[in-house]
Amino acid sequence: MVLLSWVISYLIGSISFSYLIAKKVAGIDIRSHGSGNAGATNTLRVLGKGPGIAVLVLDAIKGLVAMGITHLMTGDPTAYAVAGLFVIAGHNWPIYFGFRGGKGIATTLGVVLGFSPLAFLIGAVLAVLVIAVTRYVSLGSMVLVTAIPVSLFFLDKPIAFFWTSLVIAIFAYVRHYNNIRNLLSGNERKLGDKSQRKL
Ligand code: G3P
Repeated sequence: MVLLSWVISYLIGSISFSYLIAKKVAGIDIRSHGSGNAGATNTLRVLGKGPGIAVLVLDAIKGLVAMGITHLMTGDPTAYAVAGLFVIAGHNWPIYFGFRGGKGIATTLGVVLGFSPLAFLIGAVLAVLVIAVTRYVSLGSMVLVTAIPVSLFFLDKPIAFFWTSLVIAIFAYVRHYNNIRNLLSGNERKLGDKSQRKL
């Protein structure tokens, strides 16, 4: 049951809403536009607020759904925590879309909501503040994934949640390699940048 729940989580994570919505709304492959990332930020950048918010919400919901299914199937906190890794891995390396997906941040939001609403809130508030001040979504994303294990460390939750969220953070840093390089060289795209033309 545990293995099956992880496979199901991976398959749910592989549903790339940015790919599907961009195809439906504009007939494009989102991975050939903007930053090339199949995620909410790039959908917002390329197609605007409506599609961007839809992707953010749907990618987060798929994280939460995978957690809910694993909870019902196993009832075990470690299996439950690891399912979070599988749903994010599906988002990042989707089986249905040539293993070219996103960076896992919106899906992480859904997973962390399943770990602890308080850790979710702390991470989300810090990320929103950083994004509001700097207009760098990538920086906000990295603050989010860093704040989650720190918060979980101090909260009374199964230790598997902490370790899993640490691995999630490492996933996210690796996926943000280009963003980190761009941030350091001053070339990172800013939210709402006029030069980032929409279609
Ligand atoms: O969640 C992804 C975000 O942190 C960065 O996206 O498209 O600017 O690389 P992007």
